[in-house]
Amino acid sequence: MQKQTITSIQKAKGIKKLTMITAYDSLFAKLFDEEVDFILVGDSLNMSFAGQKDTLSIGMDQMLYHTKAVCTGAPNTFIICDMPFGTYINEITALKNAISVYNKTKADAVKIEGGAEKANIIKYLTQNSIAVVGHIGLLPQNVRADGGYKIKGKDKENIEKLIKDAKAVEQAGAFMLVVEGVKSEAAKAITNAVNIPVIGIGAGVDTDGQVLVWSDMLGFFEDFKPKFVRQYLDGATLVKNSVKQYVQDVQNKNFPSKKEIY
Ligand code: KIV
Repeated sequence: MQKQTITSIQKAKGIKKLTMITAYDSLFAKLFDEEVDFILVGDSLNMSFAGQKDTLSIGMDQMLYHTKAVCTGAPNTFIICDMPFGTYINEITALKNAISVYNKTKADAVKIEGGAEKANIIKYLTQNSIAVVGHIGLLPQNVRADGGYKIKGKDKENIEKLIKDAKAVEQAGAFMLVVEGVKSEAAKAITNAVNIPVIGIGAGVDTDGQVLVWSDMLGFFEDFKPKFVRQYLDGATLVKNSVKQYVQDVQNKNFPSKKEIY
């Protein structure tokens, strides 16, 4: 698959379904390189990789470290770095942190959670040559303020609010939008309301593309399996069985064999 550009992404709307997967390290990024349109270095890494209960405690330095690793592993894929909680509280802070993404990694864009209330930040970043992906709907960085992970777009009023958010994010200059955890009718209405591609997660089939967290879709994250995840591999079982086999081989003196020694 050829590496996406801002121009090719804009042209893809309504023509081709776009694919995005998260990655947190070079090893897996290398396996995903050229297989998907985008790799997102999501702050979800704080949960599935660092074992924390939400995304709120990850900082800029950790995101930069992981983004750098992903860029090394996947040089031929468009890479998006999540801006972590608290790193875009105002325009100046957001720009300083977004510049550090461009200075210290090879990421192509940053992603920011929030709708109309974040439009000024998105506008400021895009006016200063930062490519921005928006993110509306269920916002994991709002989990404590919202009192949990709550599906959005359940009534007409909320669907209208989401559409306003999507339009505000588009108007502010974002080139793409992630819509998370919304009823599929709401996601369809949002997708139809804007000219930028909408990538869904837990948002039904009518968006312009899909994103999944790699450790969910490959079955490595066992703590919780959201309804919207399709698991393509039972990674955890494969790993555990392999480790068990290794332990047995060592204990039974089956490893190393004659072929495996100097
Ligand atoms: O952090 C992340 O992985 C994300 C996706 C769920 C879209 O933001």
